[in-house]
Amino acid sequence: MQSNKVLVTGAAGFVGYFLSKRLCAEGFEVTGLDNLNDYYEVSLKEARLKELLPLANFSFHQGDLTDAVFINELFEKGKFDYIIHLAAQAGVRYSIENPKAYIESNISGFLNVLEACRKYTCKHLIYASSSSVYGANVKMPFAVQDAVDHPVSLYAATKKSNELMAHTYSHLYGIPTTGLRFFTVYGPYGRPDMAYFSFTRDILSGKPIKVFNFGKMKRDFTYIDDIVEGIYRLIPHIPAVNSTLWDANTPDPSASFAPYRVFNIGNNEPVELNRFIEVLEEHLGKKAKRELLPMQDGDVVATYADISPLQREVGFKPSTSIEKGLAEFVKWYRSYYKVK
Ligand SMILES: NC(=O)c1ccc[n+]([C@@H]2O[C@H](COP(=O)([O-])OP(=O)(O)OC[C@H]3O[C@@H](n4cnc5c(N)ncnc54)[C@H](O)[C@@H]3O)[C@@H](O)[C@H]2O)c1
Repeated sequence: MQSNKVLVTGAAGFVGYFLSKRLCAEGFEVTGLDNLNDYYEVSLKEARLKELLPLANFSFHQGDLTDAVFINELFEKGKFDYIIHLAAQAGVRYSIENPKAYIESNISGFLNVLEACRKYTCKHLIYASSSSVYGANVKMPFAVQDAVDHPVSLYAATKKSNELMAHTYSHLYGIPTTGLRFFTVYGPYGRPDMAYFSFTRDILSGKPIKVFNFGKMKRDFTYIDDIVEGIYRLIPHIPAVNSTLWDANTPDPSASFAPYRVFNIGNNEPVELNRFIEVLEEHLGKKAKRELLPMQDGDVVATYADISPLQREVGFKPSTSIEKGLAEFVKWYRSYYKVK
């Protein structure tokens, strides 16, 4: 049987948890890595891990991406076929308060992963980028062929840097890399720092919710199961050298002569924040007290993913509406936090 060892970094995180569970169910031998930091409630990370640890083909290592010795040892012993790198300092707004955390985890940490891929085995490195790389762009939908040179947060700048670093390593050392620009992922076991999560908490407890840009913001909210399906399908799609997509005279930013690709992974159906809140209110059976506020620094007005390249590559077709996805989230929230 073919070797199918996968390292999932950020395995105790939101996306990493669901991906690890899926890969275990598909028969992969999964090693999870996470430092279990306290950017948001550690108990939620522990709760996710508690679900993963009993799985026979899952093992876990607690450690930090910035610890090169630890990363090298893990790669040396693990002999991974595939690396799915999701660990990062996430969140746009926090990058204004604590920029250093982003340079450490997202830049130095990613360098350690790339160096380990260079020294040890790696058939395919898939890593998380972000829709935030589109920054000040206004042309919709956002396409991977668009230039992304105007980030509006340090978080976005680190994710764009990851794509540049990956390209360099794909070129210099032939490491096949695929970057995935995630668009606002939501669902059960999601991230408490994201608006839908804090909205739910505040609506239930009767507190006002802060609605930025007066609720006129649009987001391409993407349900976790659709994201996991997309990542799973991409694992055997290893980028080739000298892809037919590449023409040096008209360079496509998402392709290369090196084994390198970048894709959007989103729902392809932006929803206005006001509508999103309405659906949440319907599921919670309670009205929000909306505090309408202007745009915040670092934020963008809209996101909308052109997913046609990922559709062509792996038949990616997100299938979860916000009505269905938020129903699942609210069901989980009530049961996890034991609230009516
Ligand atoms: N969820 C989204 O909407 C979204 C959107 C765009 C991009 N992304 C990216 O997708 C990836 C996964 O996001 P998520 O929502 O699951 O976030 P998450 O914060 O839930 O998961 C990331 C995990 O990485 C771990 N981690 C952070 N720094 C680390 C370090 N230095 N060493 C070891 N572990 C570390 C954290 O403890 C956390 O459990 C991230 O790279 C994020 O930037 C997410």
